[in-house]
Amino acid sequence: MAIKTVGIVGAGLMGSGIAQTAAQAGYDVLLAEVNQELLDKGMQRIHGAWQMLVGKGKVTEDQAAEYKGRVRGTLNLQDFADRDLVIEAIIENLDQKKALFRTLDGIVPAGHIIASNTSSLPIMEMAAVTTREDRVAGLHFFNPVPVMKLVEIVKSIATSDQTIEELRQFATSLGKTPIVAKDTAGFVVNFLLIPYMLSAIRMYENGVATMEDIDTGMKLGCGYPMGPFELLDYVGLDTTLYAAEAIYQEYPDPAYAPPTLLRRMVQAGRYGKKNGKGFYAGTDKDPSKK
Ligand code: CAA
Repeated sequence: MAIKTVGIVGAGLMGSGIAQTAAQAGYDVLLAEVNQELLDKGMQRIHGAWQMLVGKGKVTEDQAAEYKGRVRGTLNLQDFADRDLVIEAIIENLDQKKALFRTLDGIVPAGHIIASNTSSLPIMEMAAVTTREDRVAGLHFFNPVPVMKLVEIVKSIATSDQTIEELRQFATSLGKTPIVAKDTAGFVVNFLLIPYMLSAIRMYENGVATMEDIDTGMKLGCGYPMGPFELLDYVGLDTTLYAAEAIYQEYPDPAYAPPTLLRRMVQAGRYGKKNGKGFYAGTDKDPSKK
């Protein structure tokens, strides 16, 4: 089935990034949120990105207007009844995702794919509440979505080969490179990235080096664009904690056990760049302010 219309649930950083990318690739995009304020925020983020690209001369005013015309917002999931593909990008909470999948299953036409952008939760649990488990898969984008080239396609034990093939074509049409992973916690990237970031926090807790020196070590020693603490702020401390807990629950290796400092930071409401409070965010060490 040729995908022409895309529905995205959740207009946060990931959902709005996916919407922006899909609109740029020519898809008709419908973006859903739970209230007008969050929807407006997501739409502003998308329009702001296109304005930035116009400012840089990468996109013309006409192109930006065309892209804008391809993204509409809604507060009503019933509007997803005409969507060829739906991508869930809401908060990383399995109960909420399962409730959403149950609702979407009753709205999105039978046989159409419903995908989850989860970074570490089991796809099979979401598929199991629907009547189309063969048409449910993971479609995991990376932040910032319009820039990062990778998409992980996650195949549960029930996902059909046809679904994987259609998602592979969709990801490629967005200019992304897809990789396929099994439905195990953390998939490919977070299974490697999360313990790396947790190890950096443990090193800092143990006084091995300062945050800045750990970051400089990985940037200049390994050529990473950001050090682990910059990346933690960027990805979100809460997101990292949830991902670590999800992986640790399924794979109780100490490498995935969240360090105390990460828990305390999240308990203190320090979520990173998203709310301006994190390892650097909100301090005079914020590298993005230098
Ligand atoms: N739309 C289109 N283009 C955009 C954009 C947007 N919304 N936002 C930024 N860009 C473009 C900019 O125009 C710029 O292009 P040019 O270089 O051609 O001018 C380019 O992206 C880089 O942007 P900046 O100049 O603002 O910033 P930078 O050079 O410092 O790079 C970065 C920023 C791309 C984020 C880089 O630091 C980086 O790659 N960091 C690592 C990010 C990473 O690891 N992400 C994965 C996180 S893990 C995850 O997401 C999964 C999970 O489940 C936790």
